[in-house]
Amino acid sequence: MRLSTITMQTKILCVSGARPNFMKLAPLIREMQDDPAFNPVLVHTGQHYDDRMAGQFFRDLKMPPPAHNLEVGSGSHAQQTAEIIKRFEPVVLSEQPHAVLVVGDVNSTVACALVAKKLQVPVVHVEAGLRSFDRSMPEEINRVLTDAISDLLLVTEESGRRNLLAEGIAPQRIHLVGNLMIDSLRFNVETARQSGIDVRLGLSDRRFGLVTLHRPANVDDPDQLRGILGALAEIAKSCPLYFPVHPRTRARIESMQFSTAAALTLLEPLGYLDFLCLMSRSSIVLTDSGGIQEETTALGIPCLTLRTNTERPVTVEEGTNILAGTTPASILKAWDQMNADPKIGRIPRYWDGAAAGRCLAALKEFFANSPN
Ligand code: UD1
Repeated sequence: MRLSTITMQTKILCVSGARPNFMKLAPLIREMQDDPAFNPVLVHTGQHYDDRMAGQFFRDLKMPPPAHNLEVGSGSHAQQTAEIIKRFEPVVLSEQPHAVLVVGDVNSTVACALVAKKLQVPVVHVEAGLRSFDRSMPEEINRVLTDAISDLLLVTEESGRRNLLAEGIAPQRIHLVGNLMIDSLRFNVETARQSGIDVRLGLSDRRFGLVTLHRPANVDDPDQLRGILGALAEIAKSCPLYFPVHPRTRARIESMQFSTAAALTLLEPLGYLDFLCLMSRSSIVLTDSGGIQEETTALGIPCLTLRTNTERPVTVEEGTNILAGTTPASILKAWDQMNADPKIGRIPRYWDGAAAGRCLAALKEFFANSPN
């Protein structure tokens, strides 16, 4: 449909599922709400449902409440994905959107893309093209499948475009728009720095590091997790570490009864503003998260990624990220290296806080050229 010939707004179902999705959607929904051409309708699948994993992020990011909450909850990959598919189909049928927009690489992303495509509703994928080339990661399967059926693919870094072209995606479907997560970071960082969590933890003028860990490959195997926690305890002897613990990891740590070192402080999961406050004030971040590799690069904070690969190579090539591996020896080696020669990065192209505007421009072009 041509925007010039339609009288009604372009209705886009925007899908959120899990914690890393919210900060990508918030700036996009805000930009759409300010543009009379668009009518964004937020659907939350409920893949993440705890207040600390979802509700707090809606409040911190000032997102509108979802028009639909599918309340799927947790389960095996098959159960969760199937439940999202079953519950999302009637929403698409009743809403009759012009497109379904999915973000990132979680189970909700691939499930909702599949539903839309089978109903012949165009699919827009934000953060398309990232590849770890490690198909043991559930996220990599979600990425490859979502991209294969997406109509408009919005990428955060050049590697995304290269990967999609190599997979045979037509170049006119791919747009480098930059990083919506960094839009959120720039929009919120000054507010976040006033959150006061640093004061409450007694960290106002102390050097400290921040840890996150939740990848199944790192936390589901007790020996693997014990090794990583041992390395962290060693590092904590010279730099106190603060570790907001994901529910998956909390359950694993409790079941193996690991007593953490005094200087490795476990916290409950933090909301967006509290976490951004601590991250922006930390000396170093150790993580296996995808998004945090990007946020540390944007903030210029050294990051040790506790993985052997990354689907976000620009954070290593241009940013402050180092792949530290997942063995105690490799982590401690990377820690020494980072201390001896801290990595000074630069900000990747289009990680400038204005990605949402470029997303909307790409959407307008897409609908203007769409044959229906
Ligand atoms: C999911 C995403 C992962 C993302 C991560 C961010 C997939 C395949 N994985 O992994 O890509 O990096 O979110 O957090 O989509 N739980 C709660 N409360 C919640 C949600 C989960 O307690 O609100 C617990 C449940 O016990 C659940 C476990 O955490 O079984 C794991 O949650 P799940 O959504 O299956 O995967 P994540 O590890 O969070």
